[in-house]
Amino acid sequence: MKLMYPGQASLEWVMNKPDHSAVPDIVDKKRACAKCHEGDANEIGEKIVKGQPVGSSKSVLEPTPPKGKVGFIPVQFQSAHDADKIYFRFEWVPPQIGDKKLDPKNEVKLTMMFDGGGTVDGSNQNGCWATCHQDLRTMKNAQDDKKTKYIKGADLASGKFMDLMQYRSGKGEKPADGYVADAREMEGGKSLIKAEGKKEGNKWVVTFERSLAGLGKGDHSITAGKVYNFGFAIHEDYTNARFHFVSLGYQFGLDKAIPEVKNYVNVTQ
Ligand code: HEC
Repeated sequence: MKLMYPGQASLEWVMNKPDHSAVPDIVDKKRACAKCHEGDANEIGEKIVKGQPVGSSKSVLEPTPPKGKVGFIPVQFQSAHDADKIYFRFEWVPPQIGDKKLDPKNEVKLTMMFDGGGTVDGSNQNGCWATCHQDLRTMKNAQDDKKTKYIKGADLASGKFMDLMQYRSGKGEKPADGYVADAREMEGGKSLIKAEGKKEGNKWVVTFERSLAGLGKGDHSITAGKVYNFGFAIHEDYTNARFHFVSLGYQFGLDKAIPEVKNYVNVTQ
């Protein structure tokens, strides 16, 4: 998967037709971001990170281009499950980037979000973008430098939230098991068993081990038959907030092949 640098490409920007001519196809034809951008996510990231104008409106989505930062990183994603657990594995070669340490504790953070099987509007097309708004900290219309991700009309009881798991590389840092509803919570979950990362040669390898059962607050249950929408992000090089690389929206299901959907991953035993 190509993880791209999104700059300030918020949900509001990607869903505004004057900025992004694809909006009618997203809304009427239910086209997923990945359907159009799996091939060019790297080019989009390269343009945005350099502060070049993009979209039909020729918007500059990165007003402060980080010096030397690459526009994308290719990541190998794998997943498998057994009777009670699901495993996710991410592998990539870290690019040499930047000299600023926005998060001096953590060289790397890897965060994955997934919905409850079609429970978050739009996430079957846009993955994490359902949580990414222009009024968040470091975004275009930020007013509050503490404001983090949220979902409009979120509801924990009916599953309208994204489950969130995070690995942090800093010494003594613990994995986070939270969720994104009206706000982003970094705790409450009980389903994440392990989140581990290590450098193997010139690669980073991060793995999550999670109960299929939803055990805590903001934990979705993962059951056969459903299709879960997910996305993930990597904060590389001691960075934070929006200065990350993000995946387009993907989907997974347990032992269920859907060959016609390109951005779908069949998780087998
Ligand atoms: C139907 C195809 C299609 C879909 C679906 C689509 N896009 Fe686009 N996107 C385009 C095209 C074409 C452009 C080029 C500029 C334009 O016409 O707006 C573009 C431009 C962009 C850009 C600016 C980069 C550039 O090179 O101009 C971003 C960022 C972007 N899309 C993100 C997204 C995200 C996120 C989603 C999912 C919510 C998405 N797109 C869904 C077709 C699509």
